[in-house]
Amino acid sequence: MALMEDLEKLRDDMLSAISQAATSDALEEVRISVLGKKGSLTSVLRGMRDIPPEERPIIGKLSNEVRDRIEEALSQRAKQLKGAELEEKMKAGAIDISLPGRSMPIGTEHLINHIIRECSDIFAGIGYEIEGGREIETDWYNFTALNAPKDHPSRSMQDTFYIVDRSGDVSDVRGESDVLLRTQTSGTQVHVMEEKKPPIYMISPGKVYRHDVADPSHLPQFHQIEGLVVDKGITFGDLKGTLEYFIKAFFGEERKTRFRAHFFPFTEPSAEADVSCGICHGEGCRFCKHTGWVEILGCGMVDPNVFENVGIDPEVYTGFAFGVGVERLACLKYDVPDLRMLLEGDMRFLRQF
Ligand code: DAH
Repeated sequence: MALMEDLEKLRDDMLSAISQAATSDALEEVRISVLGKKGSLTSVLRGMRDIPPEERPIIGKLSNEVRDRIEEALSQRAKQLKGAELEEKMKAGAIDISLPGRSMPIGTEHLINHIIRECSDIFAGIGYEIEGGREIETDWYNFTALNAPKDHPSRSMQDTFYIVDRSGDVSDVRGESDVLLRTQTSGTQVHVMEEKKPPIYMISPGKVYRHDVADPSHLPQFHQIEGLVVDKGITFGDLKGTLEYFIKAFFGEERKTRFRAHFFPFTEPSAEADVSCGICHGEGCRFCKHTGWVEILGCGMVDPNVFENVGIDPEVYTGFAFGVGVERLACLKYDVPDLRMLLEGDMRFLRQF
């Protein structure tokens, strides 16, 4: 039976064509060439009319088998090709994440924060607590409770930024008001003494504001670290010993300290502390104005009036206080020639620390 052989040959040819089809499109062409209207199997089946009726069931059965076999092979191959093609597509669209990414530069701690942390570490190491503070203060905390008399020059409009309530009469926004941007961190002494009972050993770093134009040695906004000790039997010797310890820890063992009498309203006696010049080591140079010393902080024994303002008995307790400018520490330690560099945020400068 020639037709049977034709069918078997057709099946074998088609199965090999199917297995060789390399793409879905090529496979579709093979499908049409067998099963399409003008397809090879279709035309073989059309030839059924011409075969004798007794052979038809056998040929019919075989041709059904051939068709099923081809259809199955087609669908299997289609699946294979689809999978391969999808993989191909994914490979083409893939992003290579094995290369290192573009790195974002990591920021550095600002020199001012660095110095505040360094000082805080030194004082925390000898048992001091680190207190927070408020940048907006009332006249009481910034001046009055600190024994600054009403006519003290530090209260004049030149020094202090006052905060004025403009919600009412906006015609006059000048003049002193009860609320201000603190000009010194000393107000935290008052807050801490109001809130805690002695013994008190604390420092409080923070930002302060002054009505000043920025120049190489002045800033309208800078940082201070306030220190306060209140305990029984505290003497000026404790103040000197503590500050000498701090200065050596911060600047180096070889640095010397001296105290000069000064005036601050909230301490009596008051002093300014100088450190030996780090550039000429005390010989005298331009940096220290040929004195061999540079001023670094104000200090003194807490005035009994301040204790009375916060309800601490000055007959029982004594104490000392100090205030140091952080920008000044930065300039002295790293020879920064102009304070404004600390405020400008120029990364070329800041990255060096
Ligand atoms: N508050 C002073 C200033 O801004 C610095 C100061 C001096 C603070 C003496 C003190 C102190 O606590 O005892 O210039």
